[in-house]
Amino acid sequence: MLFPRIINAYLKSSTVCFSLLAFFCVALVAVLPVSAGENANAAKHKYGEWEKPDYCGSSCHVDIYQQWKQSMMSQSYTHHWDEIEYFKLAIPHAEKDEIVAEVKEGCNGCHAPMSLLVGDVPPPRPEENSRANEGVHCDFCHTITGYDGELPFNFNYVVDPGDTKHGPRENPESPAHETFKSDFLASADFCGICHNEKDSYGMWVKSTHLEWKEGPYAAEGVRCHDCHMTNAKSVTASMGPEYEDARQHLFHGAHDPGKVRGVVELRIHPDVNEAEPGEAVKFTVALFNQKTGHKFPTGSVEDRILWLHVEATDAAGKAYHLPVDKKGFEGEEYTIGSDVLAYQDMGIALDDPDFKGVQRDGIPIGNRIFRMPYFDPQGRMTIQQWYTKSFGVDYRIGPRETKLETFSFELPDDVEPGQMKITATLNYQLLVKPVADFLGVPEEESAIMEVNNHSTYLEVLP
Ligand code: HEC
Ligand code: HEC
Ligand code: HEC
Ligand code: HEC
Repeated sequence: MLFPRIINAYLKSSTVCFSLLAFFCVALVAVLPVSAGENANAAKHKYGEWEKPDYCGSSCHVDIYQQWKQSMMSQSYTHHWDEIEYFKLAIPHAEKDEIVAEVKEGCNGCHAPMSLLVGDVPPPRPEENSRANEGVHCDFCHTITGYDGELPFNFNYVVDPGDTKHGPRENPESPAHETFKSDFLASADFCGICHNEKDSYGMWVKSTHLEWKEGPYAAEGVRCHDCHMTNAKSVTASMGPEYEDARQHLFHGAHDPGKVRGVVELRIHPDVNEAEPGEAVKFTVALFNQKTGHKFPTGSVEDRILWLHVEATDAAGKAYHLPVDKKGFEGEEYTIGSDVLAYQDMGIALDDPDFKGVQRDGIPIGNRIFRMPYFDPQGRMTIQQWYTKSFGVDYRIGPRETKLETFSFELPDDVEPGQMKITATLNYQLLVKPVADFLGVPEEESAIMEVNNHSTYLEVLP
C-alpha cells in the first residue's frame, strides 16, 4: 500500500512530520464546502419585487423580448436537460453527501436566481409554471448592481430590485420606470457572475469569463457582449428613438448550430502527393479557433465533446478510418476516442452503488477529442460538475489557438490505384451521447453538429 509507506517516510524526520500536519490541514480545507458562492441575500426577498418578462416585453421592449425568449437564458430553469440533472442527480446527491449539500440551493443561484433569493428551493418543477420558470430574465439582470468579493463567480451578484432599471444609456425617457446608467452591465465581469463556477472542492468547473480574461480578446477590449449581444441600428422600446448601437439580446451560444458552425477552421494536407500500396503517408490537420473569445468547448465542459474524424476513400470507393497519431503527453488517453466505461458516480444519486457506468465517449475509437476531463473524488470521469475534485489534461482549443494533429496511414496492399480523397471532419456534441441516452435527455442535446470539414487528395500508384 502506497499511503502508509509515504507516511512512514515522512515520520523519519520530525521536520517533515510538521509538513505532514500542514499537508493534512491543507487537505482538510480543500474538502470543506466553499461558502463563497452562497449569496448573502438568499431567502431575503419576495417574487413580487421583480417584474415579469412578459410585462417588459409585451408592448414596450418587443424585439428584445422575442430575442431573449429564443435564447437559452429564458430557458435556464425549464430546459429539460437542466431539469433532469437537477432533480434526478443533483438533489438526491446533495441529500446524501454533506460536502455537496449546498447545490440543492446553489444550482438555482444561476438557473432560477429569484427562487434562490426568495428561498423557494427546490423550486416547483417546470410543469407547475411557477415564477422559477422565468429563469434569467429582464428585470433580474437589469437590477443587478455589482458583485460581492474579488472575482465574479458563483452568483455573487448584488441586487437592488425596484423601480430603477440599470442600462447602458444616460436618461432614456421611460414611461414605465426610472433608469440608471450602469457601466457594470457593460462589463464582462457582469457575465462572469454566472459564467464562472467553483464547486465544493474548490475547482473552477466553469470558467468562461476567466478563460476570456487570460485570452487575446480581453486584452483588445473585445467583451462578451461584442459576440453575444451585438449592436445594431434599431429601437430598444416601441415608443422610443432608434439608436445606431442598440444592444441585441441574442445570447446565442453552443445551442445555436449557426454559432458553432465554422468556429474552428480546418485544413488537411499529406506529406507526399503520390504513394504506392505498402508505403506510409502522413496527413497533418491544422485546426484554428477563429471565433470564440474563450476556449472551445467552454462552460459546461464536463458534458461537451469536440472530435476530429479523418477518413480516406480510395478510387473504388472503399473507406478507411484513420486513427490519430499519439503525441505522448500526460493524460492523452482521455483525448482519444476509446471503448471504456465512465461516469460511475451517477450511481450515488441513482441509489445503485454497483453502477458500472456508461461508455465514456460514444464516438469512433481512435479519434482525437478536444476536451478537459473532470474527475470525481475517486478519480473516475464525471459529468457531475459539482462533484469534481480534479481535472485531467486541458486539451481544448484556446481563442485564436492553432492545434496540429497528424494521421499516419500505411496504404493497404489491396488499395485501389487512382485518386484517394482524405477528409477531416470536426464534430461537436453538447452532451456525450451515452450519458444523454442513459438519462433520457432529449435527442437534440446529443445531436452531432458539424463544425467544419476539409479534404485533400493523394495519387495512389499501381
Ligand atoms: C444571473 C446569471 C447569468 C448572468 C448574469 C449571465 N448569464 Fe448567460 N446564462 C446563464 C445561465 C444559467 C445559462 C444557461 C441556460 C441553460 O442552458 O440552462 C446562460 C446561458 C448563456 C448563453 C447560451 C449558452 C448556450 O449553451 O447556448 C450565452 C451565450 C450566455 N449565457 C452569455 C451571457 C453573457 C454574454 C452575459 C453577460 C452579458 C451573461 N450570459 C450573463 C446565466 C447568466
Ligand atoms: C470573439 C467572440 C466571442 C467573445 C469575446 C466571447 N464569446 Fe462566447 N462564444 C463565442 C462563440 C463563437 C461561441 C460558440 C462556440 C462555443 O460554444 O464555444 C461561444 C459560446 C459561448 C457560450 C456557450 C458555451 C457552452 O458550451 O454552453 C457561452 C456561455 C459564452 N460563449 C459566454 C461568453 C462570455 C460570458 C463571454 C465573456 C466573458 C464570451 N462568451 C466571450 C464567441 C465569443
Ligand atoms: C443576462 C442579462 C440580461 C437579460 C436577461 C436581459 N438583459 Fe437587457 N441588457 C443586458 C445588458 C448586459 C445590456 C447592455 C449593457 C451595456 O451595453 O451597457 C442590456 C441592454 C438592454 C437595454 C438597452 C439597450 C440599448 O441599447 O439601449 C434594454 C432596453 C434592455 N436591455 C431590456 C431588456 C429586456 C426587456 C429584457 C427581457 C426581455 C432584457 N433586457 C433581458 C443584460 C440583460
Ligand atoms: C455559477 C452559476 C451556475 C451554477 C451554480 C450552476 N450552473 Fe448550470 N449552467 C450555468 C451556465 C452559465 C450554463 C450554460 C452555459 C455553459 O455551458 O456555460 C449552465 C449549464 C447547465 C447545464 C447544461 C445545459 C445544456 O443545455 O447543455 C445543465 C444541465 C446545468 N447547468 C445544470 C446545473 C445544475 C444541476 C447545477 C447545480 C448542481 C448547476 N447547473 C449550477 C451556470 C450555473
